[in-house]
Amino acid sequence: MPETSAASGSGAKRQAAEGSSGTPRQPGASPEGDAPPTAATATAATGPSGTTGPPEATGATIRLEGLTKRYAGSPAAAVDDVSLEIKAGETVVLVGPSGCGKSTLLKMVNRLIEPTSGRIRIDDEDVTGIDAVKLRRKIGYAIQSSGLFPHMTVAQNIAQVPKMLGWPKPKIKARVEEMLDLVGLDPAEFRGRYPRRLSGGQQQRVGVARALAADPPVLLMDEPFGAVDPITRDHLQDELIRLQHELRKTIVFVTHDFDEAIKLGDRIAVLREQSHIAQFDTPEAILTNPADDFVSGFVGAGAALKRLNLTRVRDVEIVGVPTATVDEPLETISEMLGTGTTNEVLLLDPKQRPYKWLRRGDLTHAKGSLARAGTLVHDTVTRDATLRDALEAVLTDSGGRVAVTGRRGEYIGVVDLETLMNCVHELLDADRLEAIEHRHSLGESQARRTYAAQEGLTS
Ligand SMILES: Nc1ncnc2c1ncn2[C@@H]1O[C@H](COP(=O)(O)OP(=O)(O)OP(=O)(O)O)[C@@H](O)[C@H]1O
Ligand SMILES: [Mg+2]
Repeated sequence: MPETSAASGSGAKRQAAEGSSGTPRQPGASPEGDAPPTAATATAATGPSGTTGPPEATGATIRLEGLTKRYAGSPAAAVDDVSLEIKAGETVVLVGPSGCGKSTLLKMVNRLIEPTSGRIRIDDEDVTGIDAVKLRRKIGYAIQSSGLFPHMTVAQNIAQVPKMLGWPKPKIKARVEEMLDLVGLDPAEFRGRYPRRLSGGQQQRVGVARALAADPPVLLMDEPFGAVDPITRDHLQDELIRLQHELRKTIVFVTHDFDEAIKLGDRIAVLREQSHIAQFDTPEAILTNPADDFVSGFVGAGAALKRLNLTRVRDVEIVGVPTATVDEPLETISEMLGTGTTNEVLLLDPKQRPYKWLRRGDLTHAKGSLARAGTLVHDTVTRDATLRDALEAVLTDSGGRVAVTGRRGEYIGVVDLETLMNCVHELLDADRLEAIEHRHSLGESQARRTYAAQEGLTS
């Protein structure tokens, strides 16, 4: 069990990623296909296989050199001379105000928008001049509102790029199932549905499955979770983090939401107008040392508490609580509560998912059945959720704890308020210490200047 600690966010992200192996990949049989019919189409050059891939990142390095876009009729460049290097397997988040050129910059990477000048290199290959269709086969692309084709089923949407690449039918079918499973949708239930019969969050999951279907090393995501409600967005973000632990793609993710950037990014590029880079660094560095007022403005108030976004549930102590399943006899549960060692029992449904909290008093009203007894579990978190998500869940629940669940919603343990408050205190203490050190070093340099001025040492 990990100790309670405020581990650094991207460090934690990397640590978790190091434990997982890369996704097997081999060059796909790729006959020349047509250009994808819409900007939302994901394409890739590689396909899944049985060969063992490298344990490290399966992503590719992206290097942007002096990338500029001038739209016809606009005197100012939308993106002006941007240079940026993104490492293989890294998630870089581009964050900046509306109209600063984020989408333009992203679309230049897969050449949905042709740069006016500058170069794009992927794994050292200069791809600025190569056939854009071929390029897009290496690059998955997911956008807001999923961009699914409404007249195609979920399976057809996901199969689109592998089909274009000429994969054999059984391989495509297997891949569709695998992708649905990967994004947490039951293939039997969802493969035949049309997008209009999915919730917004489910559509986004299918959008991500489609972008990943042909196993591209690079994934571009333009505000993919911008249109869903905050709770669904949290879950989708957690899923993306989990996926990235498994897949280690190179991801470039655009958002205007700084909290989302902190949560997802190994590094964040804060962009000002024309995509000029105000700061490109780890979330911790940006939170503790914003480069200037523009970046501070973007970070917003409460930087210390925002660091809760950097620590994951997996980094703190997850404890066990007494559990029972719904089919256990009432007497057994009564006995558990009657022994005096516990005040409450977490009731699990037949799939081992947290269902209800039962306290001693609840059983006196149960009248032989658990149907009306106890308090339903409203919110759970996964191990990839941030401590901020966990704190929110704990604070909205009078019990002072939140259940932690696994990939299929199964019970793992709980995180309690005390653990979370310890983390908050550690963060606040660290901040106070840093502020004192900062004041101290400012005072020292002030003293040095005063001394130098007195001694006539200034040049
Ligand atoms: N096709 C186009 N023709 C002319 N100008 C465009 C075109 N697309 C975008 N622009 C302009 O380029 C600038 C950057 O637009 P872009 O869509 O890249 O911004 P963004 O950062 O993605 O904004 P948002 O956060 O609102 O999505 C804006 O001033 C926009 O008006
Ligand atoms: Mg945009």
